[in-house]
Amino acid sequence: MKSELLKILSANSDKVYSGEALSQQLGISRVSIWKHIKKLKELGYSIAATSNGYQLECSPDALYPWEFPEREHLIRYHQEVTSTMEVAKEEARGGCEDFTVIIAESQSNGRGRLKRRWHSDSGGLYFTLVLRPKVPPIMMTKFSFAASFSLVSVLRDEFQIDAKAKWPNDILVNERKLSGMLCEMEMESDMVSFVNIGIGLNVNNNPSEYEPNAVSIKELIGKPVPRRRILSLFLDRLKDEIDSEDLDGIIPRWKQHAITLNRQVKIVTTTEQYEGFATDIDENGALLLKQPDSSIKKVYYGDCFHMAV
Ligand code: BTN
Repeated sequence: MKSELLKILSANSDKVYSGEALSQQLGISRVSIWKHIKKLKELGYSIAATSNGYQLECSPDALYPWEFPEREHLIRYHQEVTSTMEVAKEEARGGCEDFTVIIAESQSNGRGRLKRRWHSDSGGLYFTLVLRPKVPPIMMTKFSFAASFSLVSVLRDEFQIDAKAKWPNDILVNERKLSGMLCEMEMESDMVSFVNIGIGLNVNNNPSEYEPNAVSIKELIGKPVPRRRILSLFLDRLKDEIDSEDLDGIIPRWKQHAITLNRQVKIVTTTEQYEGFATDIDENGALLLKQPDSSIKKVYYGDCFHMAV
């Protein structure tokens, strides 16, 4: 109902909508309209209420389920969680639907790669998407590359940000980190049971307080950006990628925006380190590193550091 009410009010923010008209349009009593308006105001929406009716003055940068009308039933919004990865794992094990999205305004224990902490202050976008593809585990990386490619494409096409993909799935702008991704998977009878893709994107927060080499969208374009627009565009784009006949072509598409290739890199895992010249990415997403003796080492996971040229 909140989604319907907001759709009407935001269709024309110059207009004052009477309680009577809203109640007729939505088929609920004027008292119910008033209760929904009161709740929306408590949630940060600025709605003028006069004797003539209601007028939406300003919406918060909110990620409430009703802000995503086409997929409201799939959105789980939390003010604060330890980590959306933990909540998503519980939801997935409990049988939640494919494409359920766990969003948190902030995380008290946001997780990064290699057991690092992901600082998650309000203003950033922190979410985990639960996917349930009916594929064998080897196919899983296609989904993380599809997510990375979709986010890079949205940032480039819709926000004119010169976003680039760093293997395996960071997003950088001028070599500064804008976004990181964490993927977790569980299997059942040799098939993927779920793949959880957790994304942290610096939008209107100030990540450089903790991480000097990090950057936010607000800093890049000089003004705050509505996070719901980014998330909504990203989910639409990723859904199209996954449903397309050409998910197998995702690695070549991802490579178009990659900055990890044709340079010297160092890969760090929790137990090992490798160096080499990154020549290509194979069909399963492994990075191919040319060694000094010209042999090729395949690296399947790890944190990647671009070496100075
Ligand atoms: C990295 O680059 O180190 C990966 C960062 C992933 C952060 C996101 S924020 C949403 C989700 N929940 C977490 O605890 N981590 C991921």
